[in-house]
Amino acid sequence: MLKHEPVLPPEIIYPIEEWRWVEKSFAPGFLPQAETVFTVSNGYLGIRGAFEEGGPAFRHGTFVNGFHETWPIPYGEWAFGFATTGQTIANLPDAKIIRLYVDDEPFDLANARLLSFERALDMRAGTLERRVLWETPAGRQVLVESQRLVSFQEKHVAAISYRVTVLNAKAALVLSSEVVEHLPTGQDVKDDPRLAHATMDRVLSLQAAEGKDRRVILGYRTTRSGMTMACGIDHVLETDCTWTMKADWGGHGARLVFSVDAEPGKPIALTKYITHHTSRDDKTAELCLRAGRTLDRVVAEGFGRLLDDQRAYLDDFWHRSDIQISSRHPRMQQCLRWNLFQLIQACGRADRAGIAAKGLTSQTYDGHYFWDMEIYVLPFLIYTSPSLARNVLRFRYSILDKARERARAVGQKGALFPWRTISGDEASAYYAAGTAQYHINAAVAHGIVKYVDVTGDRNFLLECGAEMLVETARLWFDLGFFSPRRDGRFCIHRVTGPDEYTTVVNNNTYTNLMARDNLRFAADAVDDMRQHSPDHYRALVLRTGLDPAEADDWRRAAERMYVPFDERSQIHPQDDDFLDLKKWDFEGTPRDQYPLLLHFHPLVIYRHQVIKQADVVLAMFLLGNEFTLEQKRRNFDYYDELTTGDSSLSACIQSILAFEVGHDEHAISYLISALLMDLADVGARDGCHIASMGGTWMGVVYGVAGLRDNGGRLTFQPHRQVQALRFRLSVRGQQLAVEMESGSVTYRLEQGDGLTIWHRDERLELQPGRPVQRS
Ligand code: BGC
Repeated sequence: MLKHEPVLPPEIIYPIEEWRWVEKSFAPGFLPQAETVFTVSNGYLGIRGAFEEGGPAFRHGTFVNGFHETWPIPYGEWAFGFATTGQTIANLPDAKIIRLYVDDEPFDLANARLLSFERALDMRAGTLERRVLWETPAGRQVLVESQRLVSFQEKHVAAISYRVTVLNAKAALVLSSEVVEHLPTGQDVKDDPRLAHATMDRVLSLQAAEGKDRRVILGYRTTRSGMTMACGIDHVLETDCTWTMKADWGGHGARLVFSVDAEPGKPIALTKYITHHTSRDDKTAELCLRAGRTLDRVVAEGFGRLLDDQRAYLDDFWHRSDIQISSRHPRMQQCLRWNLFQLIQACGRADRAGIAAKGLTSQTYDGHYFWDMEIYVLPFLIYTSPSLARNVLRFRYSILDKARERARAVGQKGALFPWRTISGDEASAYYAAGTAQYHINAAVAHGIVKYVDVTGDRNFLLECGAEMLVETARLWFDLGFFSPRRDGRFCIHRVTGPDEYTTVVNNNTYTNLMARDNLRFAADAVDDMRQHSPDHYRALVLRTGLDPAEADDWRRAAERMYVPFDERSQIHPQDDDFLDLKKWDFEGTPRDQYPLLLHFHPLVIYRHQVIKQADVVLAMFLLGNEFTLEQKRRNFDYYDELTTGDSSLSACIQSILAFEVGHDEHAISYLISALLMDLADVGARDGCHIASMGGTWMGVVYGVAGLRDNGGRLTFQPHRQVQALRFRLSVRGQQLAVEMESGSVTYRLEQGDGLTIWHRDERLELQPGRPVQRS
């Protein structure tokens, strides 16, 4: 059962609009959350929604995916194999700043007399817009209209159109366009381990600074990780009023001050073009040149072109990815689109990087990549933007060598992917809820196989997927053992499953089942390649030193895998000991003591039957074929009561399973909880919960529409009470539209030459132009 009901902010401030998230009045109380909600990002570059004028602000943030500083992880007591290097995404120089002064009076929203205010994230245009009418203490009425975007087309580019009109008087107007370095933020892991590590030292040092006309380019290098970046700004000022400009730049950043003799009713339009280029290597000079070339191009093409390209990119995205629900729920529709929009903002141009747990909306979780990518975000990408799914898996492949090293460091064969990382090195300092989550290996394998099954991209398997399957399977075979005390069954000990409230256990059901799949996948891939793709097979053997007998070992381990089952209660224990623990006293735990991790010593939590997030329940979703419906019901009922939902990764999965076992009310409230995770402010000031957004998409597609896709076979068990639901899926290069309406469902093959799917137990052969309707 849901432990806390999500509550949306009031409609009077945040009215319902299907395609925009709108704020109708300046709302200081929602400021920290709103900075997250109004972030603009393209997956490479992200800018939190703080105001151009610099304040009031909770926390300014400009991030480039993967651009990070390192620091030695301090341990009071060190042990062999502990992770050594912390990594934190850097907060870059803030180039969005445009301060406004009218007759020397600063425009400061916190103190300004506002005659009107509106800002909106337009999810079709891909822009953050604002329109404010300000009356200065001297009675000047000043209209400020701005538009901000981070371009999907030009991944290194952000731009701001900032337009000021003094309506009723002449005035001396100043626009100070700046690049500002914010001191390291006060996020402190002592208060909340999920926040970013507060690097108190200066992260960036200035290496180069140049300026000409209305352009400044600054080059920086991080102190420890040695990464470099260039940040460039350029401007176009359009107005009929007379103006002058002064610029200075250097150690403090940059400042271009436009002084304008504003005349009543004459707009002053400043367009600011911003570019960030980054490198892992010492390349400041080259990056500055690149920044210059980018600015040459985008300034010549103009803001309008950026807007057009943005719209075109998003039109295409929405065509593939939109989910439409009944017009009776416009608020939910709006929230759903906001979730989907955040997903493309996190993934669109991530290109060769991973997808951070918070996307590019904050430094929380240090900007790290977790298993969230494969289990929570990848399904959405596979079915709506397969090329982006491939990018995610390619990123994993790019860190395979580091995963091999990591396996050696923890005394195992094969590869162990880091629980959390940016660079590929393990950055988790708390092994019990970190490194011990070996299940991340199986998540990668699961993602690869789902991607290949659904997209049909066998080349990916041949070129890099199989290699990851081999190395992850090797890890499992080496980690587990055939236990004489368990009748020769293959057991995996001292690991942590997804539920971080129960750690370092024996035979975590989820882990064993997922490892079994991983072992099978690897054996199948190797056999298949040996038979059908001998060249690739030879290359694989060369790269991995594969011995043909290994696949037999993996099969044996998979067949003999021990899966805990308690005959007495007829449920799958979460691990060998879980059912022996005392149950948590939920009744005696006041609401303000959640999340438990912030109020109880880990050992207190570990000693109880209490769950942070779906564990057996997640296994029942990902590996549905391994459980009978009756087992699913019993397991669900048992674990649901013990689940706090202290992790945002839980509600969506509980929703899917609740739908499957027929607890419709629960299912819907979990789905709504996942959907509203950030908009109803469950810690949204610290960034978006990207996994929950991918989970929301899954909650609709796997939950409401009942999709199951084990082995690439698509079966729908649509929920019968749905008023209206429409979405599209891309399957093996074909486009399938699913439309549910008052108890009936229509499957329409919009593109492609034939697709087989199952509706409940019935096999359907879909052909283009011949929709099939069922109830
Ligand atoms: C969850 C993990 C998750 C991480 C990042 C933690 O709270 O327990 O499963 O990977 O957050 O989202």
